[in-house]
Parts: sequence; C-alpha cells; structure tokens
Amino acid sequence: MIVLGIETSCDETAAAVVTGDRRILSDRILSQLDEHRPFGGVVPEVAARAHLEHLDGLVSEAMAEAGVGFAELDGVAVAGGPGLIGGVIVGVMTAKAIAAVHGLPFLAVNHLEGHALTARLTDDVDFPYLLLLVSGGHCQLLAVAGVASYRRFGTTLDDALGEAFDKVAKMLGLGYPGGPEVERAAEAGDPKRFRLPRPMKGRPGCHFSFSGLKTAVRHAVAALPPGSPGGFDAGDVADLCASFQAAAGDALVDRTTNALRRFRDLHPGSDTLVVAGGVAANAYLRARLATPAEAEGVRLIAPPQRLCTDNAAMIAWAGIERLRLGLTAPLDFKPRPRWPLDPDAPPAAFAGVKA
Ligand code: KG4
Ligand code: ZN
Repeated sequence: MIVLGIETSCDETAAAVVTGDRRILSDRILSQLDEHRPFGGVVPEVAARAHLEHLDGLVSEAMAEAGVGFAELDGVAVAGGPGLIGGVIVGVMTAKAIAAVHGLPFLAVNHLEGHALTARLTDDVDFPYLLLLVSGGHCQLLAVAGVASYRRFGTTLDDALGEAFDKVAKMLGLGYPGGPEVERAAEAGDPKRFRLPRPMKGRPGCHFSFSGLKTAVRHAVAALPPGSPGGFDAGDVADLCASFQAAAGDALVDRTTNALRRFRDLHPGSDTLVVAGGVAANAYLRARLATPAEAEGVRLIAPPQRLCTDNAAMIAWAGIERLRLGLTAPLDFKPRPRWPLDPDAPPAAFAGVKA
C-alpha cells in the first residue's frame, strides 16, 4: 500500500509518500518561517497564498523522490482540518484533484489524528494507548482506542502549551517559533531562580491551564533590568526559560499521572504512553515524562523530533490506517476549521473551577 499525504493546515507546506509497511519514501516540508517572521506569528492570508504557490511543486518533488507515479498510489490523504481554513482548502482541493484525475481513494485526515497515530508509524504500538498531544493549538490527554476512536480525559482551559512557549519567546525577544528557542536558551539556565506557578498541580482531573504561568513570566520579564542595548541579559533569559520549562514540565507530569491512572483503570492490560505534537520535540519535556511513565509501569513512546512537528508523513500514515478500515471520504468533503478528536467530550470551560 502506498499513500501520498498532504499537509497545509498551518504554516508548513508538506507532502510525503509512505507505505503500508511503514517506510517513509519521501517527506518534504517547506517552512514558511521567513514569510511570517516579520509578524511574530502566523498570518492566515500569507499562509494560504504560500501554500498555493508551493504545494504543486512540493507534491511533484515528493513523488519523484519516492520514485512512484500517481498510478501506483493506493490513495491520497490530506489534513482536512482543524486549522487555518485558507490553507486547509488549498490542500483539500489539490488532494481531491489528484484523487479525481487518477481515480484514487480520497482520505480526509484530522490533523490531530495525524499526530496521534505517528507513534504507530515509527514504533510497534498497539491500541489502546494514552496520548499526550501537545502542540501549538492543542494540549490534550486522550485514550486512543483505535482509528477514529478517541476519549478525551483533559484539555487546556486556556492556552495550549506551544502557544505559551511562543509567547514567552516573544516576551524575551527570542525568535519564532518560540519552542525551540526557549528550549535552547533554557539549557544554560537555572530552573530554580524564578518561582513560577505550577498550574492545576495537585488538583483532581486531567485538565491543563497555562495562562497564569504565562502571566507570571510576563511579570518576571517586566521586573528584569533592561540589559545591554537591544535586549535582556543572556543569563536572565536562560534562567527564565529554564524556570518556565521546569514549571511546564511539572504541570505535564502531574496531569499525565492522573490520566495514566484513569487510563489503566479503563484498560488494565495496556502499557503505553505516547507523546506527540510539536512540543513533544522538546527533549527536556520528553525526559520529564519518563518519570510518570516509570512510576505507573508503562513505556513512553515519543516519535523522532522531526515527526513531532507538523509534517505530511503523519497525514499519509493516518490515511493508510483509514484506508485499511475503508474510511475514505467523499469528494464533496468540506474542509473543517474545527474538528475535535472526541466530539462527545464534555466542555472544559470552568472545569477547573470549584462552584
Ligand atoms: O504540531 P505543531 O508543529 O503545529 C501545530 O499543530 O500546532 O506544533 C507547533 C508548536 C509551536 O508552538 C512550537 O513553538 C512548538 O510546537 N514547539 C516546541 C518545540 N518545537 C516546536 N515547543 C517546545 N520545545 C520545542 N523544542
Ligand atoms: Zn500539528
């Protein structure tokens, strides 16, 4: 089985060809960082235009590198949402056109499902497993019972963790995206210098909250001396990044421990915790998650860093998983700006607040 995957839901234009026996034949990613950098974040209009300009060429490159023709494909998969709708439309239209012209099955993949199933492409992971999905737009704990079968244990009441990383980076004058910059700066820092809150720690349940932590960082930044022209003292930046990362790590460990207990009550025989999404590329946080995994007697699976951040191999792979189950989509599939993995999850608003 060979599937072409297309990803255009945020600021990465990507195309990849993946096989049913878990070989990534090609994996092309074109980051739009230079286009968005002047704005300090992703501009939807700019993103949509850039996807339109680059996607066809990228698909050709991915096919050429894989050494397969369109006629040899078994399906075309695309991230059909959630995401920035202009970009999603570009990807979906392109995938539909390829599927229609070559008479191939069309696979509409939830971008989050792409992250969720990556561990099954890279490692021997069976259902069910507990998933910590941490990205720029999401921070969720989910029991993954199978393809298209998710139960959400917790989500963020406010900011996603990747968003918090990006905002902290911006406050400190570091580049965009902020996650890798904060991680790099933190390496030389003292994680104990700044006393920052550990949001939700010790509370029952599995929800997250990061806005209080972000605000605490903002106050700490405001109290810093301005430093040499153009920026803060590098030592202050390092210490603040390390302190922020440590607080985020404590929050993840606490919430994930609760989720693991709940998960193992529901699925006593399962033994796997998977972490996925852009923030899962963070080596410090990956290492921190080993502790609750060990304490609860499960193994921790984290995909290679390149496959944590947005890519099209994960979309192709999720397409393969869907194709095996006959879960193709009609050619009138509508791109979905919002698309929860667990549509039955109770709303999280005020979930952390006692009445
Ligand atoms: O999964 P992703 O590529 O896109 C979304 O679906 O959101 O995640 C992007 C997010 C950004 O917020 C970025 O700052 C964060 O992942 N990120 C990181 C790291 N690499 C990317 N956060 C912390 N540490 C990293 N090394
Ligand atoms: Zn993503």
